[in-house]
Amino acid sequence: MTEGNPSAMSDIGKRTAYFHSAIRMMLMVIAALLLPVEAMADDSVDLNRLPPSLDPARTVNGLAQTPPMGWNSWNKFGCDINENVIRGAADAMASSGMKQAGYQYIVIDDCWHGPRNADGFITADPERFPSGIKALADYVHSKGLKFGIYSDAGTMTCAKRPGSHGHEYQDAIQYARWGVDYLKYDWCYTGTRNAEEAYAVMADALRATGRDIMFSLCEWGSNKPWLWAARIGNLWRTTGDISDRWDGNWSMLHNADENEKLWSYAGPGHWNDPDMLEVGNGKMTDTEYRSHFSLWAMMASPLIAGNDLSAMSEATKAILMNADVIAVDQDKLGIQGHRVAKDGDSEVWVKPLAGGARAVLLFNRGSKPAHIAFNWEQLGYPAHIKAAVRDLWAHRDLKPIAGQYAADVEPHGVVMLRIAG
Ligand code: GLA
Repeated sequence: MTEGNPSAMSDIGKRTAYFHSAIRMMLMVIAALLLPVEAMADDSVDLNRLPPSLDPARTVNGLAQTPPMGWNSWNKFGCDINENVIRGAADAMASSGMKQAGYQYIVIDDCWHGPRNADGFITADPERFPSGIKALADYVHSKGLKFGIYSDAGTMTCAKRPGSHGHEYQDAIQYARWGVDYLKYDWCYTGTRNAEEAYAVMADALRATGRDIMFSLCEWGSNKPWLWAARIGNLWRTTGDISDRWDGNWSMLHNADENEKLWSYAGPGHWNDPDMLEVGNGKMTDTEYRSHFSLWAMMASPLIAGNDLSAMSEATKAILMNADVIAVDQDKLGIQGHRVAKDGDSEVWVKPLAGGARAVLLFNRGSKPAHIAFNWEQLGYPAHIKAAVRDLWAHRDLKPIAGQYAADVEPHGVVMLRIAG
């Protein structure tokens, strides 16, 4: 047989070659039929069409290794904001002790916007923010704080100001120019937009600016962001809006219960967000606000105060600045605590802490006093371990104890403990 000159092949040689190629074809067909469907599909996957959350090249921005802490204008001021309100919040955060307690971000929520300019860049409302957003961000930074702003993935914000849809990169550039460190991104007027895609576009736009900008997703849990947002943003709302109410619809307890179930999805860099704090806004009792704050800390929730920082009662300050409770929220292990026992209105919640300690919350939802007990097994400790116990609201170290513990808990109240065995 002469290589390189097929015409010189003998008839037998040609038939043999034909026979071999027919066998090869048959083997390929059989192999293809035997291959699992996924493996066949792999060849045809276009990486550009992977959902952002599955793109192996997508990395997180490295921010929010512990839950973010700050203040946001919405719960107290709604749309009634201007640059003096925001400056006042920054002043109060710096002078009240909140900054020293760990609160860092001053975030303007909805209603700061003016129109887009001729080139499509967003501007600030000239009446409410006559000095402009850059000057305001500079002011906040001059207090040693960080500055946050709000937009929406739709055509309009929830209060009908211009949304970012179609302007994501322009808006991100504008925020970076202004010195924005945090973006809360809402979900009104989004029509049929795909949430994962919409949030990924803004995440990419923020990333492209080269500035560290924390990204807060606010789509109220509608599209289960806990399943896809860990590599897109740093926190995602899990519920509808909170209001200054103990229970029922749009309440503190409703949001706590919805958020509790999702404990396994939170971790450093990506947190469940049951919405901003109502502590100090006046429609719950101080006992209820202590419970609210304790539940948020147990769930490693973002601690974004929503009250008037320039007019805080001593009780409000003592709640928002309880260093022991804040330390539970900010614990480096970053595990969201959850309910481990429930007996009627009496509940026990546990949060594992770095170094093997546990935060424990004895929570009485009811309107009568309750005696709530728990044992070391519920903490994952052997019963004989003698553990140090600190009461985080009484600010007292109790006697070391083994096996179990119980306390009386006032109606709608908590006893919060740090147990180190
Ligand atoms: C939505 C959000 C709120 C707030 C308002 C502003 O309701 O969930 O937190 O930002 O919009 O309009």
